[in-house]
Amino acid sequence: MTASTIVLTGITTTGTPHLGNYVGAIRPAIEASHDRNVLPFYFLADYHALIKCQEPERVRQSTLEIAATWLALGLDTANAVFYRQSDVPEIAELAWLLNCVTAKGLMNRAHAYKAAVQANEDSGETDPDKGITMGLFNYPVLMAADILLFRARRVPVGKDQIQHIEMARDIAGRFNHLYGEHFVLPEAVVSEDTATLCGLDGRKMSKSYDNTIPLFAPEKTLRKLVMKIKTNSLQPGEPKDAETCSLFGIYRAFATRQETEALRADYAAGIGWGDMKNRLFEYLNDHLAAPRERYEALLQAPEKIEAALQDGAIRARTHSVPLMQAVRASVGIRPLAG
Ligand code: TRP
Repeated sequence: MTASTIVLTGITTTGTPHLGNYVGAIRPAIEASHDRNVLPFYFLADYHALIKCQEPERVRQSTLEIAATWLALGLDTANAVFYRQSDVPEIAELAWLLNCVTAKGLMNRAHAYKAAVQANEDSGETDPDKGITMGLFNYPVLMAADILLFRARRVPVGKDQIQHIEMARDIAGRFNHLYGEHFVLPEAVVSEDTATLCGLDGRKMSKSYDNTIPLFAPEKTLRKLVMKIKTNSLQPGEPKDAETCSLFGIYRAFATRQETEALRADYAAGIGWGDMKNRLFEYLNDHLAAPRERYEALLQAPEKIEAALQDGAIRARTHSVPLMQAVRASVGIRPLAG
């Protein structure tokens, strides 16, 4: 048997999964989890959460909700290794060793850090590093450790993360050059064909815009939120443009091709916004009702989620413990006798 390709991605535990996360990241990852030619490593990046969020309850709640979401949607945990970052202590340990070979200048160029400095400068602040923690500054190194520790070849990420994968390659190359070929150079996998959804206000659906529809919002809330999605002032009977419409975009991300084409024809025929919103709500609700029920049941049984994560951590550590042992020895940290 040939070794499966390791595909790895992390989910930062600071929010509640929304429709945009589902379509853009969760659904493709869960589909891939059933493919026996790949060995997926999916993890809850709770150490990353601490970079942006110092509210302990929110970190805990988000970890619970994200794990419950992935399990409720049918993540194949017989194949995929599903774990919590903090349950694999080798990650933080490796991050330190990587810190010691990473040029500070490389980190100075990281987009997230540069954006924070820029925001300080724009606001007339005299200290460009005001409010910036070492966590934020160093975050690409922790991310490199996440990836390199499992010798992941492919890393599915959003466009905003490509630079971090390139940094992980740089760091891996430097470490390998100094201490031997421990690490595989990872590649970012950015899928062009996954949809991006618009949120309530018509901008991209994103936690930072506060315009999201939670994936497993209770039925009533889901209806209320769909009714709030911004539309234009065209009247029923007037032909409408499907392509530029948030409602259509969301529908299309869930529907079959035929259903989408049928709806497109209804737009041309002048479907009213009220009717369209009802139709979108009914459609989403039909599709989400069953996993939502499983999700709610899991939230009531956190011990099941915990057990799944512990199982994942055990599997993850069968990879990380031996690699870390070799890495530690190669830098000169090893027993003095025997
Ligand atoms: N930083 C990533 C994000 O914000 C999440 C993440 C953490 C990650 N570690 C990772 C993604 C390792 C891929 C690989 O989206």
